[in-house]
Amino acid sequence: MRKFLIKGGKPLCGEVSISGAKNSAVAIIPATILADSPCILENIPDISDVQAMFEILEQMGATVERLDATTYKVDATTVTITNVFFPQVGNMRASYYLLGALLGQKHTANVLMPGGCEFGERPINLHLKGFKSLGADYSVSGGLNAVISVQTEKLVGGYIYMDVVSVGATMNIMLAAVKAEGTTVIENAAREPHVVDLANFLNMMGANIKGAGTSTVKITGVKELHGVTYSIIPDQIEAGTYMTAVAATHGTAVIKNIIPKHLEPIFSKLVDMGIKISINYDEDSITVDATEKFHACDVTTAPHPGFPTDMQPQFVVLLAMAEGTGIIREQVWESRFQYVSELQKTGMNIVIQSVKKKDDFLLIQGGKKLKGAEMTATDLRAGAAMIIAALCTDAESTISNINFIERGYDCVIEKFRNLGADIQRIED
Ligand code: UD1
Repeated sequence: MRKFLIKGGKPLCGEVSISGAKNSAVAIIPATILADSPCILENIPDISDVQAMFEILEQMGATVERLDATTYKVDATTVTITNVFFPQVGNMRASYYLLGALLGQKHTANVLMPGGCEFGERPINLHLKGFKSLGADYSVSGGLNAVISVQTEKLVGGYIYMDVVSVGATMNIMLAAVKAEGTTVIENAAREPHVVDLANFLNMMGANIKGAGTSTVKITGVKELHGVTYSIIPDQIEAGTYMTAVAATHGTAVIKNIIPKHLEPIFSKLVDMGIKISINYDEDSITVDATEKFHACDVTTAPHPGFPTDMQPQFVVLLAMAEGTGIIREQVWESRFQYVSELQKTGMNIVIQSVKKKDDFLLIQGGKKLKGAEMTATDLRAGAAMIIAALCTDAESTISNINFIERGYDCVIEKFRNLGADIQRIED
């Protein structure tokens, strides 16, 4: 079994460069299905979710060529397969974007029920409601290997109001609607940076999408989309993870290749805690300085521009290193505290206050000295939190199930080592 072996005790210092955004890449790669000529995708992170998405596209008939470490040429004009039942589909949440892209281009798709990190129920009703309002019929077969089917003779623009803000549904409906006849309006749309990135990509291809990044997105259908060269945005959550790691170890470092605006919900909390932040807008970098004491705060996750749910586990560790008692409330997912028992192995003082489902919250008593532990990653971001926790101890720790972490963190060992961490991958 592969594990990370980490010897903690040193503040993280130096600099780290942020890779392309996972959540953009896994939507933009299937979006190439909508183009009538090849696309060049730049700033693509080398992570297993991205590799899996490329493999799925290749099995569907596309040609994928790696031009350099972060650049790929994707020719999806040769995609013929619309029955997408490959094993990679069931392991990844983002495979639901194949539904929107195939529906938009081929007017039919049968896709294995997507998998991914488990935080309780992960419904797709809003995606299906959106497809229906564009004129498509859908069905979901039951059982272990459930398949989602969508098809239509033609797509016609529609109006979709989302009672819950959903990133996945907003992006999937955009994919299905770009080539529909007439205009589609998505109300209460998600405003995450990757929603805007997908809209920018599609607009460069010739789409007509207005309002991405606001809660009303208007899509006027076009007949054709052409291939483009496009560079995806830096990863907001990867940047936030390294900022939090540097702060939790009382280090100081420069986080490079970021878009400062995307990080506001994260660094504003660091500032509230008394951690020094300075932004260099000319160089697209941010400096975190946590060499002095910092104090606890309250954090509630929410859709963008609220505090991201994907930063919640990493902030638990940061609060454990702060002075005072911090509170974490999770308001996006029903059950995203499964990892807490793993962090408690380090001696972290975390109490789950049970109320009911989404109203549960964590009380984190800071300032306790942590000890080395054998932890098991329970999902991608919880795995990142365990790395940070291990770095905050004075001892040796191991983390297993590292495949979760490799789904979303590019060159994770190399980047932490560049910051002075003692971390290695071992075969146990
Ligand atoms: C969510 C996060 C995203 C993060 C990702 C992985 C938000 C708003 N979204 O995106 O930033 O990168 O998790 O951790 O923070 N929902 C429905 N019906 C649907 C779809 C979703 O009710 O059809 C609900 C979900 O149960 C959840 C909420 O909407 O409570 C947000 O889900 P959604 O944004 O779709 O999830 P992701 O796209 O995975």
